[in-house]
Amino acid sequence: MKSFTEARQEKLLKLVKDYYKKNKFDPIHQIDHIERVLFWVIIISKQEKANLSIMIPAAIVHDIALSKYGDDFHAKKGEIFCKSFLRRVGYRTEEIKKISETVRLHSTDDPIRERTLEGNILFDADKMDAIGSIGTFRHAFDRMNKGAQFTEIGNATLKWFKEKEKHDSIFFTKTGKELGKQRMRYIKEVFVKLNKELNEYR
Ligand SMILES: [Fe+2]
Ligand SMILES: [Fe+2]
Repeated sequence: MKSFTEARQEKLLKLVKDYYKKNKFDPIHQIDHIERVLFWVIIISKQEKANLSIMIPAAIVHDIALSKYGDDFHAKKGEIFCKSFLRRVGYRTEEIKKISETVRLHSTDDPIRERTLEGNILFDADKMDAIGSIGTFRHAFDRMNKGAQFTEIGNATLKWFKEKEKHDSIFFTKTGKELGKQRMRYIKEVFVKLNKELNEYR
């Protein structure tokens, strides 16, 4: 990837790719999700003037704990679990501390409401993959994979957005809000239209 700023970022991505190949990650959290989050992390970090030597590795390892520990508190578990990957490609203790803290803050599943610029950026980059047409399919697939009926997807996803907007936010950074605006509108519209069509059959 051309946007890497250091050789160890490439090494880390290779190490993580190998790990993803050998371990089972759920269908919506495969390595392509990591690559898209990395893409957005680089764009948002540049706009928000964050340190790419922290942000790039944080994006690469942000969901690393999902395979071993599952969805619940994977950000918190990831804070510990990502350290050995970082160490193996040469990150120093101080850097690991900041990168792993950023991994912990990429999700608001953890009740601790501590925020940092780096955590906010990673959170927003991750959310860019949960909206737009990619997000539409990821939401639908994930819900059906977890046992939801097709007819429930629209309401469940719209409720998810409403809850997020009520209790915290879909985006924390100004850049994330701006970049996500159109994709947010799109995903909401799709599910509203889906509900409308389904209602015609009731
Ligand atoms: Fe995550
Ligand atoms: Fe993620």
